Amino acid sequence: MQIIKTIDELRSWRKSVGKVAFVPTMGNLHAGHLALVREAKKHADTVVVSIFVNPLQFGQGEDFAAYPRTLQADAEKLEQAGVAVLFAPSDKELYPNTVQAFNVEPSALQNELEGKFRPGHFRGVATVVLKLFNIVEPQIACFGKKDFQQLVVIQQMVAELNVNIHIIPVDTGRAEDGLALSSRNGYLTDNERQQAPQLYAVLCHMKNELQKGRRDFSVLENQATETLNNQGWQTDYVEIRRRADLSHARPDDTQLIILAAAKLGKPRLIDNLEVDL
Ligand code: PAJ
Repeated sequence: MQIIKTIDELRSWRKSVGKVAFVPTMGNLHAGHLALVREAKKHADTVVVSIFVNPLQFGQGEDFAAYPRTLQADAEKLEQAGVAVLFAPSDKELYPNTVQAFNVEPSALQNELEGKFRPGHFRGVATVVLKLFNIVEPQIACFGKKDFQQLVVIQQMVAELNVNIHIIPVDTGRAEDGLALSSRNGYLTDNERQQAPQLYAVLCHMKNELQKGRRDFSVLENQATETLNNQGWQTDYVEIRRRADLSHARPDDTQLIILAAAKLGKPRLIDNLEVDL
């Protein structure tokens, strides 16, 4: 595996290969990321993974400085997974200007759910992803359903800006107890880690209730929030939405998704669960 740190070098390598499948990440790789790499390999012989902790998508007071940076260990995992190129640019390489003047402005969805609690987050995500797409020029790119709203924002960006890249969604990788794998799980204390599967359990309970026929969405959302808060979580949101575009669910919808974000102590976890009715 080649480790490439500059845009020029990546571009000159790119000229020598055909079809590329791309997996953008912020590193600190776990089995969830590696599932994306496995999926990417199904679509192209040549897989490029990027590792870049994107300052543009972190808000003030968020964990940009503390975000785990584990390049050496990540590179070993990617090498084993058969990745051709690890693209790991510096902040200066991707953002040579102190201010990024041009940004990708997502739809109003950027201000809902995660966006309500992380203003500017999806603008930062969309901007860096489009930059990476323009550098790597892949035919295929894989994104995890773990960050479902991010996946939808990227799908909308690609559709509305005519970006010629096929986006492949990949199922959420979970620990045996149901906790969605995340680099941020490393922030959990032992006690919090024991408690953390409660978030997924609440989503599963809601899915059950929906499949039993309940359509009182806001009652279900409030009950779930109360359950989590009673267990010591600080819930930002639990919402039942329409899966295709994350608009508000209506009683006759058949393809739903429940999305949630909550803090357990300091760490903030997100999760979601798809529901077919
Ligand atoms: P990061 O959080 O590192 O995630 C990289 C990719 O891995 C994303 O597509 C994410 O949805 C996926 N992923 C993370 N945990 C997963 C899990 N448990 N199961 C399946 N997929 C999982 O998301 C980002 O980085 C950044 O926002 C990025 C897109 C790289 C832009 O900076």
